[in-house]
Amino acid sequence: MKGISRRQFLKGFLGLLLTSIGGTVGGYSYAKYIEPRRLAISKQTIEHEQIPASFHEVKIVQFSDTHLSDFFTIEQFKKVIDTINSLKPHMIVFTGDLIDEPNRYSHINEIVPLLKKLNAPLGKFAIYGNHDHGGYGTDIYRNILELSNFHLLRNETKKITLIDDTDGSYIYIAGIDDLMLGRPNWNETLQNMEENAFSILLVHEPDAVNRTQQFSINLQLSGHSHGGQIKLPFIGALYTPPFAEQYYEGLYQVGKTTLYVNRGLGTTRVPYRFLSVPEITLFTLKSK
Ligand SMILES: [Fe+2]
Repeated sequence: MKGISRRQFLKGFLGLLLTSIGGTVGGYSYAKYIEPRRLAISKQTIEHEQIPASFHEVKIVQFSDTHLSDFFTIEQFKKVIDTINSLKPHMIVFTGDLIDEPNRYSHINEIVPLLKKLNAPLGKFAIYGNHDHGGYGTDIYRNILELSNFHLLRNETKKITLIDDTDGSYIYIAGIDDLMLGRPNWNETLQNMEENAFSILLVHEPDAVNRTQQFSINLQLSGHSHGGQIKLPFIGALYTPPFAEQYYEGLYQVGKTTLYVNRGLGTTRVPYRFLSVPEITLFTLKSK
């Protein structure tokens, strides 16, 4: 071998091999033990002419897809609850998939005391995700949320007024049942909503926005995608679930509807996250 001895070549080759093994093991450990335990707070401003002046600076926290299991533990959930309360939101919304397998989860009694601790003077709202209906979860999930003072919006709309309702202004919050295992119904849910009032719609699956944008909904909040859960540089998400194929992370404008897709907190199918850090979103409303 010219200019480089056989010994040097073998040494170089071995070095490269060890670096790539190290990189793979390091990447694997990071995706299994580090990234799933991280927590990012994404801040978003929602400015719209239909937001009443009295709702200016109202703060809404969205959390999603906790998938409580051996891989997203009660300890991690406690940290999420404390973090949300530290943001002092006026409203809290949960966009589905609380427990990974509701009928097999052994810490079910520890959930209500934690969800109950969440504070939001304008209310706490939730919708069904596919995992909340799956595994005979429909009733389990409803009971947990009702005992925790959440309004479970299953094809339902609520009018939100301020506590010191001085000018009689309001916004709407609505929730659609899960697309995959529930009975979603936009017409029934939105029939009494006034078009000129600011409205927020919670739907677990983000691609539902293609239907939502046919109605006068200003903001749709979704989860379901886990932001892809595992992403590769330059390639992106390796897999996105059904109904999260078109929209899977962050902010989009679809017709007149603004869509936000939260990356969620837990994991499903495989207990890894890579380039998709668990997320809590803090929205601040701004009136124009
Ligand atoms: Fe999920």
